[in-house]
Amino acid sequence: MVEVFAHKLIDTHDFVGKKDEYLAMLPAKAKQRVLQYTRTEDLQRSLFGELLVRRIVSGKLNIPPREIEIAFSSKGKPMLQEKNDLHFNLSHSGHWVVCAIANKPVGVDVEMIQAGKLKIAKRFFTDTEIKDLRSKDDKKQLHYFFDLWTLKESYLKVLGKGLTLALNSFSVVNEENKFRIKIDTKFIDVHLKQYFIEEVYKLSVCAYEDQFADKLVHVHTKDLLF
Ligand SMILES: CC(C)(COP(=O)(O)OP(=O)(O)OC[C@H]1O[C@@H](n2cnc3c(N)ncnc32)[C@H](O)[C@@H]1OP(=O)(O)O)[C@@H](O)C(=O)NCCC(=O)NCCS
Repeated sequence: MVEVFAHKLIDTHDFVGKKDEYLAMLPAKAKQRVLQYTRTEDLQRSLFGELLVRRIVSGKLNIPPREIEIAFSSKGKPMLQEKNDLHFNLSHSGHWVVCAIANKPVGVDVEMIQAGKLKIAKRFFTDTEIKDLRSKDDKKQLHYFFDLWTLKESYLKVLGKGLTLALNSFSVVNEENKFRIKIDTKFIDVHLKQYFIEEVYKLSVCAYEDQFADKLVHVHTKDLLF
């Protein structure tokens, strides 16, 4: 089953005071990855992403969080070393870090809804998507734009190809109240689901499995410590 976990970032001032304590929980390589970020906000996102994955995977596999080994594909998709029946994916935006976990590859994308983004639709969306977007009331267009954006990103992320796959080489279409991925006239065999996280955010998940948890799980900072 596909499950989604979310952690809300903490106040930057509080984070700075506790940073070393959190970093000390990570194995050397993971610590190095996190420390490549110089901006505190980026460092916090990266660090809580590592802690969130480790906490969840540790619970599933019954191994200590520090002993979990994370490898990267040639396109940068993180995955569990030597474990091919448990998959995860991470995304961050604004004050959220989210992690999806499943038994087959999974992709997740969270985005903060920002006004003014609509104008870039033409660069990334297909004609079908633009037509669907324009058919919405003015008030709904921005939300639909971010529905499409996060759903498209989640599909890219399940494939793990990064931006080597053009965003306008496939369409997200809504048929009978269900989002699906379509290339030309063919539907792709993946499943999409959206979760509510907060009013000004969109969160989409794409998976090969079609069983999704009903709700996302919020994980508090104290539960990430180990
Ligand atoms: C890098 C990319 C995978 C996601 O980027 P993003 O949406 O900016 O960032 P997210 O926070 O959702 O995801 C980043 C995380 O995805 C994971 N990731 C990295 N490469 C990945 C890949 N090839 N496949 C899947 N996941 C990947 C990592 O955990 C990464 O976390 P990190 O930055 O802490 O290492 C890629 O799809 C990208 O650059 N997209 C550009 C966004 C864009 O222009 N979208 C147009 C909207 S229609």
